[in-house]
Amino acid sequence: MFDSPIRPRRLRHTPTLRRMVRETQLTPSDFIYPLFIVHGDGVRNPIASMPGISQLSVDMAVTEAQQAWELGIPALMLFGIPDEKDPVGIENFADDGIIQRATKAIKAAIPDMVVVTDVCLCEYTDHGHCGVLNDGTHIHLPEGYVLNDETLEILQKVVVSHAKAGADIVAPSGMIDGMVGSIRVALDSAGFEHLPIMSYAVKYASAFYGPFRDAADGAPKFGDRKTHQMDPANTAEAIREAELDVVEGADFLMVKPALSYLDIIRTVKDEFPSLPMVAYNVSGEYAMVKAAAANGWLDGESVMMEKLTSIKRAGADLIITYHAIEAAKMILDS
Ligand code: PBG
Repeated sequence: MFDSPIRPRRLRHTPTLRRMVRETQLTPSDFIYPLFIVHGDGVRNPIASMPGISQLSVDMAVTEAQQAWELGIPALMLFGIPDEKDPVGIENFADDGIIQRATKAIKAAIPDMVVVTDVCLCEYTDHGHCGVLNDGTHIHLPEGYVLNDETLEILQKVVVSHAKAGADIVAPSGMIDGMVGSIRVALDSAGFEHLPIMSYAVKYASAFYGPFRDAADGAPKFGDRKTHQMDPANTAEAIREAELDVVEGADFLMVKPALSYLDIIRTVKDEFPSLPMVAYNVSGEYAMVKAAAANGWLDGESVMMEKLTSIKRAGADLIITYHAIEAAKMILDS
């Protein structure tokens, strides 16, 4: 027998000791809760691939927001599903668009709740892509290519429209070059110098977004997002993307997805320690736990808390998660 005086198990001996030496504590304040908003009244359409999550009409979203607020969740991330789609997605920047209406209603009901709006084209365009497509006028680019600078012009209109509706933070998610800088210019010239930008700075071309594309009805009708979202194999490029967004004026940095990218969360946090770091625990990560738990293959609640803890331990200050309500309840009951 090896007779060492050092025994790490001494600090794990009782629940109270374990609580005293716990390095990572989750709180409901860590969470941002995503909502999918549809037109109509009294609508709650469950999303099959995301058990527990539904598309909600504005009135139902307000009720859901109230529940989140009472549990101590400080922020929502809103995604809108428009009535009609077209090549540029005009409802995205319409005064009575779905996000604008939801933002106004939620802010009227719970003025202190932070409303973050997702800023992208994919849910609004008839082709399901995150930008304006080349229709052949750019002869050196393939047809159907997501055009960069034409898309920036639309994003500028969208953020000003969200800001006017009362959004507290805008979150551009399209991985379009220069999106943070051009959004900053648009907000500042419209009098919204005070509005922070939460940039989806490091967003990978991930298959883990599958269920979300059902929920938000935003799947591309052809092709994929690999000409703008990042290759899952890359780390150095994550630093480059984050660096650019910092220079352009991002107030928060995000890494997305979270669980297969914990190393990226840690790297980006270490490189840019002065910015709050957000991680998106995406739809596929949620669906996997729910599916396994429904089969009795995993203890869903324990796995949920373990994975949220791992995201925070990796360096995330805030976590966007569909588990927000459930996790907040568990934390408050513990
Ligand atoms: C794009 C957007 C996506 C997600 C958030 N914003 C989908 C995509 O890039 O294809 C995915 C979120 C998730 O999977 O939970 N507006």
